[in-house]
Amino acid sequence: MRHILIIATLLGATGALAETPRDFLARFEKEAGASASVARGASFFTARQGGEWSCASCHTERPTQPGRHAKTDKAIQPLAPAANGERFTNVAKVDKWFRRNCNDTLNRLCSAQEKADVMAWLLSLK
Ligand code: HEC
Repeated sequence: MRHILIIATLLGATGALAETPRDFLARFEKEAGASASVARGASFFTARQGGEWSCASCHTERPTQPGRHAKTDKAIQPLAPAANGERFTNVAKVDKWFRRNCNDTLNRLCSAQEKADVMAWLLSLK
C-alpha cells in the first residue's frame, strides 16, 4: 500500500513538470486562474512597456523567424514552437529565460497571465 502511494506521488510530480509548449500554456493558465488570449499575447510581445526593448527587439515580431540579440547582435533561434521543436520543452530553461528576459524588458517579472498570453500567441504562429 505504501509503495503504491509513493509511486502515485512520483507519477503526480512528473506529470506536473511541463515538457511540451501546451503543458506550459496549461501551467501558466492554471497559475493565472484565467484563460490565455492570443491577441493580448501578440501586443504584449511586440510593444515596449516603458523600457528600451520589447520581446520582439530580440525575437522579432514574427518569432517563427530567427532573431538577433538587440545588444550583442548574436543570432537567436526562432522562439515559436512551430519553427523550433526544442522550444518550451525544458522547465528550467523556460523559467530561467522568462525571468531574465522579463526583467531585462519590463524591469519586473512577467505575470502568469502574461506568460500564458505569450504562450498562446506563440502556439498560434504557423
Ligand atoms: C535582449 C534580448 C532579448 C529580449 C528583449 C527578450 N529575449 Fe527571450 N531570449 C533571449 C536569449 C538570448 C535567449 C536564450 C538563447 C536562446 O534560447 O536562443 C532567450 C530565450 C527565451 C526563452 C526560452 C524558451 C525556450 O524554451 O528555449 C523564452 C521563453 C523567452 N526568451 C521569452 C521572452 C519574452 C517573453 C520576452 C519579452 C518579455 C523576451 N524573451 C525578450 C533574448 C531576449
